[in-house]
Amino acid sequence: MNWENRYQQADTPWDKGAAHPMLSHWLGHVVIDGAIVVPGCGRGWDLRAWAEAYPQHSVIGIDIAASAVSAAQELCRELPNVRVVLGDFFDPNTWQQAERVGLIWEHTCFCAIPPSWRERYVATAAEILPAYGLLLGVFFTDMDDEGAGPPWNTPVAELIERFSPFFEVEEAQVVHHTYPGREGEERSFQLRRRDT
Ligand SMILES: C[S@@+](CC[C@H](N)C(=O)[O-])C[C@H]1O[C@@H](n2cnc3c(N)ncnc32)[C@H](O)[C@@H]1O
Repeated sequence: MNWENRYQQADTPWDKGAAHPMLSHWLGHVVIDGAIVVPGCGRGWDLRAWAEAYPQHSVIGIDIAASAVSAAQELCRELPNVRVVLGDFFDPNTWQQAERVGLIWEHTCFCAIPPSWRERYVATAAEILPAYGLLLGVFFTDMDDEGAGPPWNTPVAELIERFSPFFEVEEAQVVHHTYPGREGEERSFQLRRRDT
């Protein structure tokens, strides 16, 4: 997938022009020890929501598409706690200078990568997060169309199996509060990095 082309052609059906509605479940309610990281942040809607709710925390968006990064920087230009990085989430160099990370927010990055990269995603998240750090996210687990993605569906059992070696599942629930058209397709997960 050439993500930059998709942004340049404004062919971005995943972009709803607003933060994920489920974020209200966590914003302001979750205690975070460190920076907030949003992989595949796109045009930055979720990034802005996190930054406004946690002005005392650094909020770092990562995206591989330059046009998405520019749009996110523009959207968040008045929020001094936001940094948007043009980079590859899976590249260790992206993280060399990073401060302590307290939370990763996952929304339509995991479903956007080829399924063969899922192991790398889990390993990268586990590497970035210190013990007891949080990975919160919404995942496509119940899409009817499981054909060629992106987005690629991931069954709940597979998600739990993949994350469990590094993360404890503190909460998993069907997402009722979502964008029109995604009803019944997503589950939210609250995952805590194990101390191992
Ligand atoms: C389906 S879009 C979702 C964007 C955003 N989360 C949203 O909901 O609007 C997936 C995003 O992940 C980015 N992406 C894909 N692979 C990436 C990688 N390896 N590192 C960083 N970003 C990546 C794409 O450029 C794209 O912006």
